[in-house]
Amino acid sequence: MQVKLKELQVSALSAVAKIDSLKSLEDLRIKYLGKKGELTAILSGLGGLSKEERPLIGKISNEVKSAIAAALDARWAELENQEIQQKLASESIDITLPGRRIPAGRPHVLTTTLAEIVEVFRGLGYTVADGPEIEDDFHNFEALNIPPNHPARDMHDTFYLDDGRVLRTHTSPVQIRLMEQGVLPIKAIMPGRVYRCDADTTHSPVFHQVEGLVVGENITFGDLKGTLELFLKRMFGAERRVRFRNSFFPFTEPSAEVDVECFVCGGQGCALCKNTGWIEILGSGSVDPNVFQAVNIDPEKYTGFAFGLGVERIAMLKYGIKDIRLFYASDLRFLRQF
Ligand code: FA5
Repeated sequence: MQVKLKELQVSALSAVAKIDSLKSLEDLRIKYLGKKGELTAILSGLGGLSKEERPLIGKISNEVKSAIAAALDARWAELENQEIQQKLASESIDITLPGRRIPAGRPHVLTTTLAEIVEVFRGLGYTVADGPEIEDDFHNFEALNIPPNHPARDMHDTFYLDDGRVLRTHTSPVQIRLMEQGVLPIKAIMPGRVYRCDADTTHSPVFHQVEGLVVGENITFGDLKGTLELFLKRMFGAERRVRFRNSFFPFTEPSAEVDVECFVCGGQGCALCKNTGWIEILGSGSVDPNVFQAVNIDPEKYTGFAFGLGVERIAMLKYGIKDIRLFYASDLRFLRQF
């Protein structure tokens, strides 16, 4: 039995040395050391040995078992290492190669223009409010002193919903919503999207306005003019020619519109400015007492001013963009310039 055990050890060690895959090595482990393996087979003869021989054979069989197990483990580690090295060699990456560039996105020019406008007014102490884009007739028209059948409704080219509500035609309804809350004084701007059935080089069916509203005691038209002059200087620089022009809005009295000199013709008159030399960017005025009455504010005690800026027009003038439709065409050649 002693001889058989030694022969088993020799044959197992030489077999282990020849193995070149982890799978075959595992098969070999089962062959020699498994429950039904060759070592167990030899040891099944232990019962036939004398009492004196048994401990000796037991000791030798343990040594043989340890020697084979150690050889298996060592070969396992070797083969595993070889496998890793092969994998590393075949899958190597050249970290000095240039990476694939992911194009960086950037904010849309209207987003940055709007942010710039908001920043100027925040600097002047204005808060920012917003309101719904689907409006009822009361907020979009009636409370703004535009009753049903008033001719001013025609100026708005309104998109109507089946239930009689409208896509807001301007941001002025947010003024009403703010005043309805009854917290005075008010000094706020209200940026947002507005809709009109209107399209050419300076008119878009969807565009952005920033409404401004100041309500308090002793607020004058002079305050409005001073505020807008400061805003215009910040946006366009002190050199740019601007003008206040007498105008009419049902919700302000007196009213004024502001024009900025056309950047295409420098005031000479061209197709973009419809030969006027000017591009209109905002409407404004002192809040009409009828509007205060519609929202239960005492017009004897309070006065105020309001304005509504066209964001696309401001961006056109700032960046020399000749067609308002470019903002919405999603043409990367245009968008990448900003
Ligand atoms: C109004 O919408 C008034 N709610 C503004 C106002 C507010 C007046 C508060 C008084 C007090 P208007 O329709 O003129 O006014 O529009 C204001 C600005 O929005 C215009 O000066 C222009 O810059 C811009 N605008 C008007 N229609 C369009 C359009 N279709 N596309 C792009 N911009 C437009």
